[in-house]
Amino acid sequence: MSSLSQAVSIHDVRQLGINLNHWYVVARSQEVTNKPLGVTLWHQAIALYRDSEGQIHALEDRCPHRQVKLSHGQVIGNELECAYHGWRLNHHGECAAVPYLAENQKLPNCKIRHYPVKEQDGFIWLFPGDGEPSIEPMGLPEWDHLNYIASVAIINCQAHYSYLIENLMDMYHGHLHQDLQAWAQAELQDIEETDERVDAHYQAQSYYKIDKIWSISQLFFPALRRLHPEPLDVSYIYPHWMSTLGKDFKIYCLLCPINETQTKAYLIHFTSLNAFWRLHKLPVWFRRFVKDSLFGAAQKFLDGLVVKDVQMIEEEQQAYLQNPQRRNYELNRALVSVQRLMKNQAS
Ligand code: FES
Ligand SMILES: [Fe+2]
Repeated sequence: MSSLSQAVSIHDVRQLGINLNHWYVVARSQEVTNKPLGVTLWHQAIALYRDSEGQIHALEDRCPHRQVKLSHGQVIGNELECAYHGWRLNHHGECAAVPYLAENQKLPNCKIRHYPVKEQDGFIWLFPGDGEPSIEPMGLPEWDHLNYIASVAIINCQAHYSYLIENLMDMYHGHLHQDLQAWAQAELQDIEETDERVDAHYQAQSYYKIDKIWSISQLFFPALRRLHPEPLDVSYIYPHWMSTLGKDFKIYCLLCPINETQTKAYLIHFTSLNAFWRLHKLPVWFRRFVKDSLFGAAQKFLDGLVVKDVQMIEEEQQAYLQNPQRRNYELNRALVSVQRLMKNQAS
């Protein structure tokens, strides 16, 4: 690479790497069973598995014997057994057994990488950085909270993560979602920026107001919705995203960047039941029943948003690949802060 093109790529946000010293979300809890699951986080193939005690482990997804994928093997007790010759790796990534080891042979002294991993709030958080993490995963405090109903959508897009974050931080794109009545007339009020996060505060119009228990049906029946002003706050809390619309809605986007042109993410929508004080006096088992039975109430809405956003994001990526030097004309100053944060974190 010439020094000129190197200089260009460092300043090009679409070529940025990620800061590995953070917790990323690599799977939903329910995806990891006693059958190993292969995932990719920023070019690193990782095998996730749940051991016989229910603990989650994450190993580099390659057998040290002949480099085939460990995720194609099976879990035996607390170890991961390779499909090819049956070598077993323990959760530290050390070879623990070879089925055909002769009496005079020692176990090979090979080791593959293992990653710090946590199961928290319905998701698997993995730390791909150096050494032991000194920070905690961001977490989703609403996940187990009885006053919140969750819906989850998966985003798989053929695009650099910066396009996704910019989409999520630029609330002027309500235009794209008009038929879903997501929000309207956003206006950026102010921005706060640190080395760790960007908070952009918009004033917007919301269609939904959850103040009576039946008003949850607004999620299904457009005729019940009325536009009214609400604050719309969006935050890029590196490497994830969070937003609040009025008092009733919260959305998180948990990122798993795969490579420069591919990003996986989980979008989690919470509808709040905080306004229903009568409900909070009912027995916990009943409140849990209400929470669980309403799980996925916003699914259609969320999936509808994702389809349209992904289409735009992928078109941006394609246009970039065809003409990387073409510049955009950006009017939203929140995006300047967002790009600055990405570059600082990735450098
Ligand atoms: S390649 Fe895995 S046991 Fe041989
Ligand atoms: Fe969107």
